[in-house]
Amino acid sequence: MTPSNRIAVCPGSYDPVTWGHLDVITRAAQLFDELIVAVVNAPMRKVQTLFLAEERIEMIRQATTQLANVKVEAFDVLLVEFARTKNAMAIVKGLRAISDFEYELEMNQLNRQLSPDMESVYLMASPRYSFLSSSGVKEIASFGGDVSELVPEHVARRLTEAYERQ
Ligand code: PNS
Repeated sequence: MTPSNRIAVCPGSYDPVTWGHLDVITRAAQLFDELIVAVVNAPMRKVQTLFLAEERIEMIRQATTQLANVKVEAFDVLLVEFARTKNAMAIVKGLRAISDFEYELEMNQLNRQLSPDMESVYLMASPRYSFLSSSGVKEIASFGGDVSELVPEHVARRLTEAYERQ
């Protein structure tokens, strides 16, 4: 990595991507030369995702076509390992509330233990997205509620299709 090629990784489950994620991705893309949106492709907390990793990746790609320095990739190893293999200088995450802070502080300490040189950067959620989460969006969509203000149109469509199939 050279000072003119500052790479960061923006990890998450993105099941599915919301306007809150896209706000953080857009703002992070302005801070780094290259931003890799890293999509977890491994069972997390024993929770089954609604969408396959390939589907989640495709939805993010469609939503970020206008961001030239953003790439979207899957990962199934420790986040710090993935970031290291990508020559990233930082991990970027969004913070919405105190509850996020507690979880992220724990992750930060663990990641720092594993990789002391990998810096983590936290972007505060824009107020309009502070209470927006993928799980909230899925709950609304699963009851046929309107999520058109919460996710891009193509994601809302995929949610409707997914719950119609179930
Ligand atoms: O809250 P999310 O979106 O499910 O976040 C997932 C992720 C990977 C960003 C978070 O759990 C984290 O920071 N994990 C660090 C520990 C790790 O590397 N886990 C392996 C993931 S494959």
